[in-house]
Amino acid sequence: MVDDDKATVPRRDAPDEPVGSAAPLAGGSLVGKYEIVAVLGQGTFGITYYARDTELGRDVAIKEYLPTAFAVRAADLMVVPRSTPATEDFRWGRQRFLDEAKALAQLEEVPGIVTVLDFLVANGTVYMVMALVGGETLEARLRRDRTLPPADIEALLHPLLDGLERLHNAGVQHGDIKPANILIDRSGRPMLIDFGAARTALQGRTQALTAVDTPGDAAFEQATSASPGPWTDIHALGATLYHCITGSQPPDAIERAKTDPIVGGLTSCPILPLWGRVEVGVVKGRRLAWGTPLPNPPPQSKDSALRPG
Ligand SMILES: Nc1ncnc2c1ncn2[C@@H]1O[C@H](COP(=O)(O)OP(=O)(O)OP(=O)(O)O)[C@@H](O)[C@H]1O
Ligand SMILES: [Mg+2]
Repeated sequence: MVDDDKATVPRRDAPDEPVGSAAPLAGGSLVGKYEIVAVLGQGTFGITYYARDTELGRDVAIKEYLPTAFAVRAADLMVVPRSTPATEDFRWGRQRFLDEAKALAQLEEVPGIVTVLDFLVANGTVYMVMALVGGETLEARLRRDRTLPPADIEALLHPLLDGLERLHNAGVQHGDIKPANILIDRSGRPMLIDFGAARTALQGRTQALTAVDTPGDAAFEQATSASPGPWTDIHALGATLYHCITGSQPPDAIERAKTDPIVGGLTSCPILPLWGRVEVGVVKGRRLAWGTPLPNPPPQSKDSALRPG
């Protein structure tokens, strides 16, 4: 558990009004033994830094929990709740982020999943330390090339499904699979980043946040009160593959539930060698997302996701 009283700076009462911004830590700041070098990305749930492990002398990526709907950075660098009503949500999400960082740090190297090396509690918040992946996101690749050739899709699909299976077996769900959260390293290997336990926990507790930034990748249960589970990740991976094949995002799950254009859209695509199997995965994910009962258990592994039927 994160203990606010043991934070490096004395605890203060949460202000009633926002008093700061979500300013990133400056280059040269120290978080434990890690020295911040630069910001890699800043979203609504956290800031990702390029940093250096000063003891081991290696570069890492560090994600700082800073959900902007609930928290701000104070002048003394502490991350504090944005307001008194936000305090409980901020702490709840922080605990989920810490639990997830611990679970991921205990996994041995898993294909398709970024390696989590360490986690820290500091500045009133939690930091997840990851291996630094050189390369680009799948989103950047799709922006440049629009679609991916079959061989490249195969190279992504198998490690991602293997990685998801290991993740799900460890009791962790990703919750926000989309091209922006898949890094492709310089050897063409995909890595899932930006795990979503804190996001999922906070979404369940507030209207202040929208379900996901990219509705086409999200399953029906993420836009409604239905329960997310490992099947939600399989659905989102199917949606991501659809994007790689067609060059555009699938229509969102609620629209599909009304008109079901997706199967027609898929079958009118150019024929790809992996086509049949991918379609099975996408359509299975979609059916699960609707809550349509399936004769078999939800696909939670590469084999079951790609098996016809
Ligand atoms: N392990 C890593 N190695 C290299 N770069 C990374 C790593 N993790 C994240 N990044 C970079 O940081 C960017 C942002 O990371 P991430 O997707 O975790 O957060 P976000 O989407 O900005 O925030 P939020 O959690 O609020 O959605 C990524 O697009 C990627 O460019
Ligand atoms: Mg992201």
